[in-house]
Amino acid sequence: MLEQLEQMPADPILGLAAACRADTNPDKVDLTVGIYMDEQGLCPVFAAVQEAQRLLAQEETTKAYLPPAGDPLFNQGIQRLVLGEDCSALAGGRVTSIQTPGGCGALRIAAEVIHAAAPDARVWVSDPTWPVHIPLLGSVGLAFQTYRYYEPLTHGVNFDGMVEDLKAARAGDIVLLHGCCHNPCGADLTLQQWGVIADMAQQQGFTPFIDIAYQGLGDGLDEDAAGLRLLVSRLPEVIVAASCSKNLGLYRERTGAAIFVCSGESNANAILSQALVAARRVYSMPPAHGALLAGRILADEQLGAMWRAELQGMCQRINGLRSSLRHALERYSGADFAFIEQEKGMFSFLGLSVEQAVRLREEDAVYMLNSSRINVAGVNANNLDYLAKAVARVL
Ligand SMILES: Cc1ncc(COP(=O)(O)O)c(C=O)c1O
Repeated sequence: MLEQLEQMPADPILGLAAACRADTNPDKVDLTVGIYMDEQGLCPVFAAVQEAQRLLAQEETTKAYLPPAGDPLFNQGIQRLVLGEDCSALAGGRVTSIQTPGGCGALRIAAEVIHAAAPDARVWVSDPTWPVHIPLLGSVGLAFQTYRYYEPLTHGVNFDGMVEDLKAARAGDIVLLHGCCHNPCGADLTLQQWGVIADMAQQQGFTPFIDIAYQGLGDGLDEDAAGLRLLVSRLPEVIVAASCSKNLGLYRERTGAAIFVCSGESNANAILSQALVAARRVYSMPPAHGALLAGRILADEQLGAMWRAELQGMCQRINGLRSSLRHALERYSGADFAFIEQEKGMFSFLGLSVEQAVRLREEDAVYMLNSSRINVAGVNANNLDYLAKAVARVL
């Protein structure tokens, strides 16, 4: 039976990362997958995570399943981290969440809940969006619409186009927004623009669904969640998929949460029960290790302070790299790369053609996506000049 299956193409991003790993060129530069890398090109374990791990190893007495909704301390911590300590929906009992296997698990469980509530819901996604959104939400049976978002000419958000397109979003529809550090373009909404989206959601009745996978890597933990919190303060319902992969460095531990801000407390209980049914159908219980670490770090003053300082250091390094890369590219090419410094988080489109991106790969072992999306955190003092000269040469 299985022998009739055909070979599937490799995931374009993971496939490129594998090709880079296999490349023997000592000068190769990996700007492919969205993981944070330090000056040595390594994806580090946070010291706060190491310490939490040490404490957990001393205390852990069982590997029995977590409860289906996950670790309660983690759920409390992630709700407060994302929504803010002073969130009135939280105080009013209008929030529920379940711990999920990463942000991907959160997107999938939220999609299942959305589909149960409104099987005909259309999900509005930005053009472009993270490609994995489509199979994650689409496999549940939800249909998609696209709204204009990134404008390659200005390297910024085409907000007029976005608003124009979202005028067609109606009650029962979902508008998927990147909470911060847009993947793949790095261009984020201003707080004033988030306010316009809140007005539209109020008037038209659509539900915002916010994917926040990079909180703390744009401007800071609170700054990066400001738009999301504005929507939560003004709307009866908001859905959030949160990930601890990047901001706690827990990638392989698969730690995330599907958070539902609901219209009332009893509704929150019903939504939680739906999320639990969805989880039971897909994976039953979430993995424990990452959530036990994150829950502890978020609840413990000392560990929390240690983690926040480390995260802030990463955020500052990314913003410093954006500035260095902009200036190096401008120096070698004479072109304007000011946009790199205005964008947020780990990603940016360099604005190269597919042919130029392929040439960089083949001639210089500089690996970026064909769309010329780069992971800024893959740049470091050792490869900055090499990268900038190579880009200048293909321009
Ligand atoms: C935009 C976006 N959303 C969600 C995720 C989910 O991440 P994970 O499932 O690793 O937590 C990612 C990861 O790259 C992402 O870029």
